[in-house]
Amino acid sequence: MTRRIDIVEVGPRDGLQNDPANLTTSQKLEFISRLEECGVRRMESGSFVSPKAVPKMADSAEVFMGLDRSKPTRHIALALNEKGVRRAIDAKADEINFVLVAGETFGKRNQGMSPSESGDMLAQCAPLILDAGIPFSATISVAFGDPFDGEVDPAVVANLAARAQRAGVGELALGDTIGVATPWQVKALTERVRLEAPDVFLRMHFHDTRGAALANVAAAIDEGVDVIDASCGGIGGCPFAPAATGNVATEDVVYMLERSGFETGLDLGKLIETAKWLETVLGHPVSSSLSKAGGFPG
Ligand code: COA
Ligand code: ZN
Repeated sequence: MTRRIDIVEVGPRDGLQNDPANLTTSQKLEFISRLEECGVRRMESGSFVSPKAVPKMADSAEVFMGLDRSKPTRHIALALNEKGVRRAIDAKADEINFVLVAGETFGKRNQGMSPSESGDMLAQCAPLILDAGIPFSATISVAFGDPFDGEVDPAVVANLAARAQRAGVGELALGDTIGVATPWQVKALTERVRLEAPDVFLRMHFHDTRGAALANVAAAIDEGVDVIDASCGGIGGCPFAPAATGNVATEDVVYMLERSGFETGLDLGKLIETAKWLETVLGHPVSSSLSKAGGFPG
């Protein structure tokens, strides 16, 4: 049987939050709708954070209001605190993805919290999300390295994962926010996290900052991970991480997986078209390989 790998499209959130371009709400909605045409069924469509901290996401409530709910897509809202969770529930998010943080200095700069304070905030927000009956996922950001402190202790990551499991998180992403992970580190951290949070499904969130993102995806899949975050065009990055660059590109992941016999449910040709359309609205080239080279010849 063909193994299915689900890709969570993060372009409309992680992708646009750090791009120099300022898309209008209707351009964001067009991006989302084009992604749906590519077969995307799960997507981060906005984030409910402080508009002062991340001005590019200030219109997320309007984006959610404008979504075509007749489509089968599950629209994920990112939240980092109680106000964000309440705003995401009001916006009728189909899923809330909470952000934990594994690094001290990055945590302070990104969300004003230490790793353990982000765990406390998750515990505080969990009942709200569970009572609303909304699927509840989380990401541990800078799980593989902090842009200011460097090394992140895997024990901190595993401890946050255990706290997420206790709080009722169904799926947890290990986030390589600054693109420092290597395939063997991915395997080691995955094994470590599974020891302490065995009941949580794992998802992976890689950035291609140091060229290892596709190799990291392959390593995670070898470890039995079935869900991968990616962004069309390979756009993205965190505004609070110096020199951050884009997520692993959706079309590059789809090419690698489908050529290797996995099924993603996504249309590679349409993804490449969408990446090219994105270049016209962003006003700059995107970084994905497939948008330049095209798919397998013939
Ligand atoms: N949505 C909108 N506004 C929010 C908010 C939210 N989720 N959370 C807080 N605010 C507002 C408060 O209302 C307050 O506004 P005021 O100054 O007009 O009174 C202000 O932000 C400060 O509130 P406070 O509770 O002290 O938050 P903070 O300053 O400690 O900031 C975060 C915490 C998480 C809201 C902020 O650091 C943030 O938005 N970070 C974004 C990080 C991010 O998105 N990174 C990329 C993805 S991981
Ligand atoms: Zn990211």
